[in-house]
Amino acid sequence: MPEQAYLDASQPLFNSDKVDIIEWNFDTCWGSTLSKQCQEILQTYSDKNQLLGHGVSFSLLTARQTARQTTWLEHLNDEVKKFNYKKISEHFGFLTTDKFTQGAPLSMPCTPEMVKIGINNLHKIKKIAKCPIGLENLGFAFSKQDVIDQGKFITELLDETDSFLLLDIYNIYCHMINFNMTFDEICETLPIHRANEIHISGGSFRQIEHENQNIYCDSHDAKVPNDVFELLENNLNRFKNVETCIFERIGKTILTQQDTAQFREDFLTLQSIIKKTNHARNQ
Ligand SMILES: [Fe+2]
Repeated sequence: MPEQAYLDASQPLFNSDKVDIIEWNFDTCWGSTLSKQCQEILQTYSDKNQLLGHGVSFSLLTARQTARQTTWLEHLNDEVKKFNYKKISEHFGFLTTDKFTQGAPLSMPCTPEMVKIGINNLHKIKKIAKCPIGLENLGFAFSKQDVIDQGKFITELLDETDSFLLLDIYNIYCHMINFNMTFDEICETLPIHRANEIHISGGSFRQIEHENQNIYCDSHDAKVPNDVFELLENNLNRFKNVETCIFERIGKTILTQQDTAQFREDFLTLQSIIKKTNHARNQ
């Protein structure tokens, strides 16, 4: 969101009161100065109690707390004093350790020791955040079995810490494409009753070959596929505890007028699906 292209693309949606709630990837901007426009948006939604916090770089399954994680927790402590967060979430998975500081979050084997590490780390975030904490399902896996094991692992972590599931429908869609799985097959592995928030986004293929095809990635750099909107429309009603749907797009990927128009169109499509489902629920 801090990128000017993102702010320009989204401002008409804010101006016309179409945005009920926003999610801020706070840890992507720690240490940098935010524009006045960005700060005002955050403050407005914080004041309305409609601001969600989303971390992308804590690395929940790192076994020994690194100096970088200590700094991350200190920043989180400052962040929750600055803004009023309704909920805070992080990705499930392992991201960094010591000198290895960049990469996509990856799963780890679901052993009792690893579960314990995940629980301890979730408690560290929870203690500082003092609001409901959630974990997001990953868009990357090594195999079909890994997808299934991730669901089991996430279930144990959320059950043990009474946290919510941030259900990323697009990430499930990536697994469907990459491992030829069905939506139901993946949902069955996840604690769907804990799903309190949904993410919707688009992405693209990257040249990492798996069984003679490239990997479809959770890259937030393209239009939301129609198939993803269809999955949402067909399934939203079964996710009874979901309160929030967030549309994700990386600001620096909005490069042309066409990207801007597509961004707004995707947002409005998402909103119309939610309205239709709410209307049907209230009938
Ligand atoms: Fe997501």
